Amino acid sequence: MAGVLPRDEVIVPPITFVASASAIARIGAVPVFVDVDPETINLNPALVEAAITERTRAIVLVHFGGCPADLDSFTKLCREHNLVLIEDCAHAHGAEWKGRRVGSFGHFGSFSFQGSKNMTAGEGGILITNDEALAENARSIANQGRRTGGAWYEHVNLGTNARLTGFQAALLLNQLERLPQQVTTRMDQAADLRAGLAVAGALQPTPAKLDKRITAHAFHLFSMQYFADALGGVSRDRFVEALQAEGLPAMAGYPYPIYQNELFKQRPHTVHQCPEAEAYCSSSVWLPQNALLADREWIDTALAAINKVCANADELLAHSTSNSTTRSAELSLPVSGHE
Ligand SMILES: Cc1ncc(COP(=O)(O)O)c(C=O)c1O
Repeated sequence: MAGVLPRDEVIVPPITFVASASAIARIGAVPVFVDVDPETINLNPALVEAAITERTRAIVLVHFGGCPADLDSFTKLCREHNLVLIEDCAHAHGAEWKGRRVGSFGHFGSFSFQGSKNMTAGEGGILITNDEALAENARSIANQGRRTGGAWYEHVNLGTNARLTGFQAALLLNQLERLPQQVTTRMDQAADLRAGLAVAGALQPTPAKLDKRITAHAFHLFSMQYFADALGGVSRDRFVEALQAEGLPAMAGYPYPIYQNELFKQRPHTVHQCPEAEAYCSSSVWLPQNALLADREWIDTALAAINKVCANADELLAHSTSNSTTRSAELSLPVSGHE
């Protein structure tokens, strides 16, 4: 669809859901994992530039957690190196870079409507592009290789059935109307949470400060990093368990960078050194997007719970029996599984 061929290299971040990279491997291309910027947890443009080879054909740029990646740098890089830019906007419905919606900068923008996402139809997704030829090709592949205006049994491409149903589209169109208001609400609530966390100490939001060019952050995740030293060495997972016991829908982030999945043992791929990605996985704590749609009172309750857990760190250390990896919360807010 984007002209990526088997054995071409495609640069992708290691902090994302596996689909960002398995889409590359599935067509026989080679995922090349490059480290993230520790501030944004998005691909680091300088490291990406250093990883470009004569085989590099595309970059899959994930706007992790709904935080737009540095689109000034990546659009320039792709222009200069003649690369296809695919924006993975699965977390970033309604996010904006300098007043323009993400997904509209690259050759393609892809959005997921899976159950945990900021807009959902249960499952499904959408691909957007400003290029008519790419759009026709994408439509054809998603519709069993048919062409627009062609006959039902005429197939011009090797396609599949990736069609969204009309029923799903109706649900989504309705949500699209509410999206701008929800983006504003999540951003307002996130700003209050960030201000409160400055007091709590052991947790720092990622990014610590929002780049001014980010005019809308989708906050699919309210991402934080936990500093065990601030609480006398209480482990991240014990800390998350304690937050959950207070009723917070907190969870530990991705357990490891995606290149550590067994899948990649069987598939050609390249891993550049990713110390920042590894550090993020061992320290991250997330709140899901729907928590940020709760009212202001809930934010105060959440901050009080975080402060209570921090204030009782000694007790957590004394009763540190758990060595399990905390994955999902007993929830006071409904949260579906995060992909
Ligand atoms: C960053 C990212 N990319 C891609 C996907 C894949 O989306 P889907 O499950 O709709 O195929 C997800 C999914 O959940 C995701 O979080």
